Amino acid sequence: MRRFLDLADFSRDEILDVLTLAQRLQDHPEPQALAGKILGLVFLNPSLRTLASFQAGMAKLGGSSFVITPGQGTWQLETGMNATMDGAAAEHIREGIPVLASYCDALGVRAFADGKDLAADMNETLFRMIDELCDKPLINLESARGHPCQALADWRTLDQERVPRRAKFVLSWVYHPRALPLAVPAATLQMAAMRGMEVVVLRPDGFALPSELMARARAAAGMSGGEVSETADRGAALRGAHVVYAKEWGSTRHYGDADGDARLRAGLTDWCVRESWFDAAQPAARLMHCLPVRRNVAVADEVLDGTRAVVRREAFNRLVVQMAVLHRMLA
Ligand code: CP
Repeated sequence: MRRFLDLADFSRDEILDVLTLAQRLQDHPEPQALAGKILGLVFLNPSLRTLASFQAGMAKLGGSSFVITPGQGTWQLETGMNATMDGAAAEHIREGIPVLASYCDALGVRAFADGKDLAADMNETLFRMIDELCDKPLINLESARGHPCQALADWRTLDQERVPRRAKFVLSWVYHPRALPLAVPAATLQMAAMRGMEVVVLRPDGFALPSELMARARAAAGMSGGEVSETADRGAALRGAHVVYAKEWGSTRHYGDADGDARLRAGLTDWCVRESWFDAAQPAARLMHCLPVRRNVAVADEVLDGTRAVVRREAFNRLVVQMAVLHRMLA
């Protein structure tokens, strides 16, 4: 494996194969598998889980890692094409990425969406540039349109929770004080569709996911025996749900327009998952969220602290599945 950028780049069987390897590595640790190998990690945006779990996973496989957080002890990196670099950034990724790649055996990069131009972000303009600049195996640690490591961990979590393949999976928009990127909803939608689930995207008007993401997921669902729909009707969506996956994202109607987005979301603070959301769901319905989550803003304490929430298992599974990805790339 030279690239782990998007679940959609792989077949369902290839994903299942990586998940099988993840289980094998958990059952039969290989503490020397990556001895002498180095993973470089570049975080253009903050992280808790991704940073810690990749470093821990690399160490557990006998390898080592370095972390670059531009502007925090290392040069600030410019990402704009044809930028006149008379601001804070002292170095461009066009030099920075190849140099860092030359020091390691694989590189992971986190580069969120710019959040201004939906078409450019959905086209992965920045990450495509990073991809071209990196001549070593490359892992997407969250880009404008994808978070495949999170999606892989969530697939494993669903399997461990014995959520049936055809179960009803509700990807629900939840409130956040400001617009967040589309990467996790995009990756989650694709994951659930590839797994073969009955996927319902629940979102208020103005927050529909981009049509190309919906079309891609519908195509994946068609191949895996699942289906994909979308609605703004919360009651209908939650009826019979086996899983509610809560996620915050920005208005696609007002993409790049912070004021327009803020006006729209101001009336949506009741989109905080409470226990009452599960009244008509399956009795043992699960609550998923990639974390970080704002308590009592996106999801209420009563749900996060109850038995439905599997958010810590999702986070732990990041470590397990990423070790499998690293093993595939470097062992
Ligand atoms: N879910 C996730 O990627 O967490 P971090 O942003 O903390 O890495």
